[in-house]
Amino acid sequence: MEKILNVKKKIKPFNKTIFVEGDKSLSIRWVLISSLSKKKSIAYNLLKSEDVINSIKCIKSLGSKVKFNKNKCEIIGNGFHVKKKGKILIDAGNSGTLGRIILGLLINSKNKIKLIGDKSLSKRDFSRVIKPLKKFGAKFDAKKNLPLTMRGLENPKPIKYFETRGSAQCKTSVMFAALKSKGITEIKAKKSRNHTELLFKYLRIPIKIKENKNFDIIKLKGINKIEPLDYQIPGDISSCAFFLVLTILSNNSQLLIKNVNINSSRTGVIKILKRMGAIIKFRNQKKYKGEKIADIFVKSSKKLKSINCPKEWNSSAIDEFLIIFLVAAKAKGISYFRNLDELNHKESPRLIWASKILNLMGVENTMTKNSLKIRGNPNLILNKKITIKNFLKDHRVFMMSTIAALTFGGDWKINDADSIKTSFPKFLKILKQLNQ
Ligand code: S3P
Repeated sequence: MEKILNVKKKIKPFNKTIFVEGDKSLSIRWVLISSLSKKKSIAYNLLKSEDVINSIKCIKSLGSKVKFNKNKCEIIGNGFHVKKKGKILIDAGNSGTLGRIILGLLINSKNKIKLIGDKSLSKRDFSRVIKPLKKFGAKFDAKKNLPLTMRGLENPKPIKYFETRGSAQCKTSVMFAALKSKGITEIKAKKSRNHTELLFKYLRIPIKIKENKNFDIIKLKGINKIEPLDYQIPGDISSCAFFLVLTILSNNSQLLIKNVNINSSRTGVIKILKRMGAIIKFRNQKKYKGEKIADIFVKSSKKLKSINCPKEWNSSAIDEFLIIFLVAAKAKGISYFRNLDELNHKESPRLIWASKILNLMGVENTMTKNSLKIRGNPNLILNKKITIKNFLKDHRVFMMSTIAALTFGGDWKINDADSIKTSFPKFLKILKQLNQ
């Protein structure tokens, strides 16, 4: 049974300092990379969410040893080859990142790999990784959806690949497959989050990157051994974004969110919110193993203005649009968001959900296949009953609805509170802390 959250009151003004949990992208990448080294890797502040736990379960089933104690996780990997004989079952649960990347990582395994996932993941598009992985020589029994079976090969052939969606999951899946191929794989990739590139560089894996305005050219040479990776996972800017918007839309409030990853391939949300009139500042900026980290300060904003959102910013804010749309709902004027077809390929079709929720809130909006136009209302106050029934474990639909309820008012019943377990299990606990 899914859990329903009932919100009937707006949040009280707050002035607090918080930490959000570890970055999901970095946590999953750390687990998968550590599984390739036979020496011990240690991470602190690894995100303890279902997506990451499923990644750990998955590398354990491939032969890695994992110790997870409070804030510290240790992994002794199984190296570059899977020793296990016979069929391997991988359950990626709700995680597109795990499901797509693990296929690239297992390209050199001759075992039959069966990949399954939950109801939401089984609806998602896997053809985007099946196509390039087939070029390496892997064989698949499915074209698009889960469950699927992959059979890899001992010596994958390096490939040339053009990633046109701006999907870091696809890029990373191919990068893992390239790591296990003899020779140089060349990837031309539309801009997307670059954590894998930074981690590979830090590990001194032979990788060359030429950055152009819209595309990066990545040349990656296969290897057969990797060093262990010790890592302190910073806070997740995608989790932080919900609290930025909560503060912006609340009265007389301010918040300091400590130790957040501010990699520029992830900070589209900050650029967008600032252009809409939000007051957001980075403090204590530092570099850590190629990534940028800072404390983020945010204040309530009285005057929000609409935005014509540049489509070049889309990929660096891809997980944050739902929450950004709430700011557009309160901003003066009409906001435009275009070229967002990728939003309908997430845990649930998010563009459709955004429009549905805005309609329930009485916010005038027009949706097309890939765009959303929102007429903001600076005086918007809700006092009606709203019920959100999202049963696809879409954590971001749940969190967006919760923030809407706490800032615009009304009597909300929101499904499904359990969904936050996939990316941000402490979301409700932190909200309680702010509302004391
Ligand atoms: C992720 C990439 C993004 C993002 C997802 C995490 C990653 O997906 O939506 O939450 O860690 O690589 P796409 O790469 O499919 O855009």
